[in-house]
Amino acid sequence: MIQVLSVSKRYEDGYYGLRDVTFKVEAGQFVFLTGESGAGKSTVLRMIYRAERPTSGTVLVDGVDTAAAHGNSLTALRRKIGMVFQDYMLLFDRSVAENVALPLIVRGVDKRAAAGQVDSCLERVGLSGYQNRVCCSLSGGEKQRVALARALISKPDIILADEPTGNLDLSNGEKIVEVLRDANRGGSTVFMATHDLYLVQSTRLPFVRLRGGRKVEEGNF
Ligand SMILES: Nc1ncnc2c1ncn2[C@@H]1O[C@H](COP(=O)(O)OP(=O)(O)O)[C@@H](O)[C@H]1O
Ligand SMILES: [Mg+2]
Repeated sequence: MIQVLSVSKRYEDGYYGLRDVTFKVEAGQFVFLTGESGAGKSTVLRMIYRAERPTSGTVLVDGVDTAAAHGNSLTALRRKIGMVFQDYMLLFDRSVAENVALPLIVRGVDKRAAAGQVDSCLERVGLSGYQNRVCCSLSGGEKQRVALARALISKPDIILADEPTGNLDLSNGEKIVEVLRDANRGGSTVFMATHDLYLVQSTRLPFVRLRGGRKVEEGNF
């Protein structure tokens, strides 16, 4: 389903964020992308979402080259994916409910039906009662959970989660992984970036490990 083939990324300043990285994530899997800060995790996820393009190599999602996606094919790619950005990318002056409903509204779901799904999604991420809070007033951990709820609400084929537990304490972080595992059991393929190797080890799920932009390990603990 997701194939990353000999991908390198050279940034404008000449720095290589990724070098010759190859791996795949099969449909229905839950796979971690791990490695220390600066290893290249966010770069990989942004290329799958087509927020960036590789300098060389290819990223395929269901056989479609993400770098070539534009117009309708880019919309189709993005609609397959629920993305939790490391920096949340919320509409900070809007309410929690408006942010979480957004993927449904752009798909033409009416507001009342969307509101019901927002309520259940917020409950899943532990934010019941947060509907009318304005996002800019929330803590980092709360924003992170709003971003997760927004990624889950459309029941996407693929969930890309970039450090979704990065601002949470251990027990809330474990709860978020449990929410993602539920989504995975419900049929979504999950690819989650985390620097937290202990978290990866504790779940025993498959992982790909990067260091300095290179893949250094993959497998299961
Ligand atoms: N726009 C950019 N320009 C230059 N270097 C970048 C840019 N984005 C990321 N990098 C560099 O690429 C490397 C990988 O970054 P990133 O993918 O964000 O790592 P991670 O998510 O694993 O912490 C880092 O050294 C980072 O500084
Ligand atoms: Mg990152």
